[in-house]
Amino acid sequence: MMTVDVALVPEAYEMGAPEERVVVVDVLRASCTIVTALANGAERIIPVGSVEEAEITFHSCSAENRIRKEEILLCGERGGERIDGFGLGNSPREYTAEKVSGKTLIYTTTNGSGALLKAIGASEVVIGSFTNLTAVVDRIAGDPISTTILCAGEQGGFSTEDAVCAGMMVERIVGAAGGALELTDSAKAARILFQHHSDGLSGLMRETFNGKVLLGLGFEADLDLCCEVDRHGFVPVYDNGELKSA
Ligand code: MLT
Repeated sequence: MMTVDVALVPEAYEMGAPEERVVVVDVLRASCTIVTALANGAERIIPVGSVEEAEITFHSCSAENRIRKEEILLCGERGGERIDGFGLGNSPREYTAEKVSGKTLIYTTTNGSGALLKAIGASEVVIGSFTNLTAVVDRIAGDPISTTILCAGEQGGFSTEDAVCAGMMVERIVGAAGGALELTDSAKAARILFQHHSDGLSGLMRETFNGKVLLGLGFEADLDLCCEVDRHGFVPVYDNGELKSA
């Protein structure tokens, strides 16, 4: 029987059985940005944990013209803002086809890329968000191996928006899988949290800690984009150091 767990904070996730699937959720904004970048034609996204690692990866990718320098973009944020010297920040609205199509993106963010790197070793690591929610649920229901939805949270702590998104996935998985499913207590709690907020995602975004930080930085339009359910119909999959669309 498939078990669905929700790690409400990254620390709650311990590498499970190798046959486990992990869905990494960072609603504001890494998950939406990754989905948007791939939807707009990015060739691959290489997630890394630090700015230094991003620079090293840039040099190793471009060494011996493995990937031409002009085809690589350094991307990501610290404190919500673009890192000095990087081509793109972390607003999904920056990741237009004009900027990212055909490019290799080396990507580091405060919470999202770290959570993703924590999951490496699971048999399947995918990216989930409101913007590709049905595609994620279909993937889980269609191949029912045990699944942990890993909330990236904020600086190791809890983020309401990630838990609500995880809860919406749980709600939909229950609908799709019927009885053949076991939910952990945290999966049940996330589901209840989603049921409580199901009518007001856009308002909720503005009430969360991360939402308020982004509002303060002038990224209000990102809040609406990041809670647009099913804007895209595919799942980014991590394999061999890269994220690509499945
Ligand atoms: C993160 O990974 O911490 C976030 O995506 C931060 C942000 O919204 O820029």
